[in-house]
Amino acid sequence: MSLNDFIKQLDDLVESASKQFEDAIHQVDHQVLEETRIEYLGAKSGKLKEAQKGLGKVAKEDKPVAGKRFNEVKTRLEELFQSAADTITGGGKKGKAETLDVTLPGVRPRLGHIHPITQTIDELKDIMGRLGFSAVEGPEIEDDWHNFEALNIPLEHPARDPLDNFYLNIAASSHGGGNQLLRSQTSTVQIRVMENKQPPIRIVSLGRVYRPDEIDATHYAMFHQIEGLLVDTNVTMADLKYVLRLFASSYLGEDVEIRFRPSFFPFTEPSVEVDMRWQDTWLEFGGAGMVDPNVLKAVGYDPEEVTGFAFGLGVERLCMRRHGINDIRYLYDSNTKFLAQF
Ligand code: PHE
Repeated sequence: MSLNDFIKQLDDLVESASKQFEDAIHQVDHQVLEETRIEYLGAKSGKLKEAQKGLGKVAKEDKPVAGKRFNEVKTRLEELFQSAADTITGGGKKGKAETLDVTLPGVRPRLGHIHPITQTIDELKDIMGRLGFSAVEGPEIEDDWHNFEALNIPLEHPARDPLDNFYLNIAASSHGGGNQLLRSQTSTVQIRVMENKQPPIRIVSLGRVYRPDEIDATHYAMFHQIEGLLVDTNVTMADLKYVLRLFASSYLGEDVEIRFRPSFFPFTEPSVEVDMRWQDTWLEFGGAGMVDPNVLKAVGYDPEEVTGFAFGLGVERLCMRRHGINDIRYLYDSNTKFLAQF
């Protein structure tokens, strides 16, 4: 065998081996890689082993050159195998990245975005922030002092009925009768704020509340409220109405109207239901009123010195109105086709 033939054979070997190792990388396939390794580097009958036989057939004086070349090719094949193995084990990612075909169309990543209720919450916080109300948070697991007692809702009040609340089956808390529950209203935060701070108070709190309601197009067992509280000297219902009007027109538009209907809440006196007129219908958004003197006393304020107003509105209702959503369940069934529209 001539030296030229021998070298040609080795070159062919390197060329076809590099193609096949490249293939294994493309397929990100360990099995293919292993088969290729055996085909070329297999100790018993690999193609390299086969080529080595040619070494014995070249002329004696060509042997040093042929031997040197053979060793180079052996090293080269081992390198090809090693780098293919590294690429594949480095994860499909590296394998794919190294074989990126820039002529193919790109893969557009699917981006998520902020849930419509969270968007609404952010916007409402913003509006109230401009009116000087700072946003605070309270716990969703409450005791009956904050959810009822301090809000002037006594033990025998029907609002405390176990059928109307999610009481928790856990050990007693430090306050009240020791019952804990998922809060049924954000009015709990009024108490938590007033317990820790002296007037003037000007806060909003937006968060989840829980009620075992029958679920339908307008009811869900979990929903969100925006609670507002302002306590200062000489606060009147005119201030309440003014703030709610500004709030409503900022969120729904300039032409919105506000209406108060007499109502009752244990923690406000007088109490009202808040309606907003929008696109020719009156819609009920929640309750409001002047903070009851008993509540001010419960947190250690003097009702002769300060007065205040509070309101609690449904966030879902506001969001649904604004976007024309007619079933609350759409908001919570995680259907990305629906959610992607907001
Ligand atoms: N917490 C009341 C409710 O959930 C709403 C409300 C808040 C009423 C503040 C008056 C004052 O129905």
